[in-house]
Amino acid sequence: MTTIIPFVSEASSDERQAWREALPEALRGIARVAPFEDLTEVERTAAKVAIVANPDPAKVAALPNLVWLQSLWAGVERLAADLPEDGPLIVRLTDPQMAETMSEAVLAWTLYLHRDMPRYMHQQRAKVWQEHVLKTPMERTVGILGIGKLGSASAQRLKTNGFNVVGWSRSKKELDGISCFHGTDGLNAVLEQSDIVVVLVPLTGDTRGLLGREELRRCKENAAVINFARGPIIDVSALIDALDNGPLSHAVLDVFDKEPLPSSSPFWTHDKVTVLPHISAPTIISTAAAIVARNIGTYLETGEIPQSIDRNRGY
Ligand code: NAP
Ligand code: GLV
Repeated sequence: MTTIIPFVSEASSDERQAWREALPEALRGIARVAPFEDLTEVERTAAKVAIVANPDPAKVAALPNLVWLQSLWAGVERLAADLPEDGPLIVRLTDPQMAETMSEAVLAWTLYLHRDMPRYMHQQRAKVWQEHVLKTPMERTVGILGIGKLGSASAQRLKTNGFNVVGWSRSKKELDGISCFHGTDGLNAVLEQSDIVVVLVPLTGDTRGLLGREELRRCKENAAVINFARGPIIDVSALIDALDNGPLSHAVLDVFDKEPLPSSSPFWTHDKVTVLPHISAPTIISTAAAIVARNIGTYLETGEIPQSIDRNRGY
């Protein structure tokens, strides 16, 4: 009998449609993927694994025998908050292509700051012809907060491009050619030496508000921040204060407390802020669908469940 895998999603209808085409194709011969809404009560009760993208928690709860669920996103803070701790195991998306895409974004926006693009853009608007001293990448230290799948790929890419890179994680780590720090003292050390701070930690109870007034005050004079992780990791008013009154010179923000960013947000018009619409590393449907198919195929064949998040740590 063919196994039915529910697909539970409240993503936009275009996105849902794209997944509804890609997932059945990737899982052909392994299982039949069906939208939650199309399943009978018996099929919902039989489901042991589901694929989710921004799901309604009530729909997940309506799959009472789920053992695990496969997220199509890397960040699963909302699932961790919405689903009971004794609920299904949460498997997040880990895709080498996403690490590649994120490292490309980190390199691109680091170069944007390194080559003073925001300042030259303002100068052009004011018709100012003025040259600023050019630093070499070697003279710039980029601090990466979170050196997991995405952060470590980004660190290596920056290193390859000549930047001095330091990293910070929860547990002690070693990365080739990169000075690694951990713990509170480690965070301070990274903030105090970085010209550019890249945020790539997951949003958890420990990282919410990680960069507040005190932490941002530790940053170097004219340092810049790139947040490619989740909005609430940086305190909004502390960030605006650090941009207005120092020490920060610029912030590149791809993620926000509320998305889409409301038109009332001061970030839209702030001179020292670049707003991006959560585009640094979108899930690539083709590679992600193949990974999901492999995970589910292995589970159905051997019972092996891919590594799930640790509910105590929150990631
Ligand atoms: P990951 O592999 O789980 O890595 C997380 C890193 O953060 C690890 O190094 C971890 O430390 C560190 N960390 C976690 N909690 C910490 C804490 N309290 N103190 C210090 N370090 C801590 O995650 P990932 O795949 O790299 O993804 C990171 C995040 O990127 C996701 O959670 C998501 O929010 C975001 N993301 C954004 C986009 C976008 O388009 N903007 C796309 C994809 C993902 P250990 O190494 O010690 O565990
Ligand atoms: C995107 O932000 C993701 O978590 O995959």
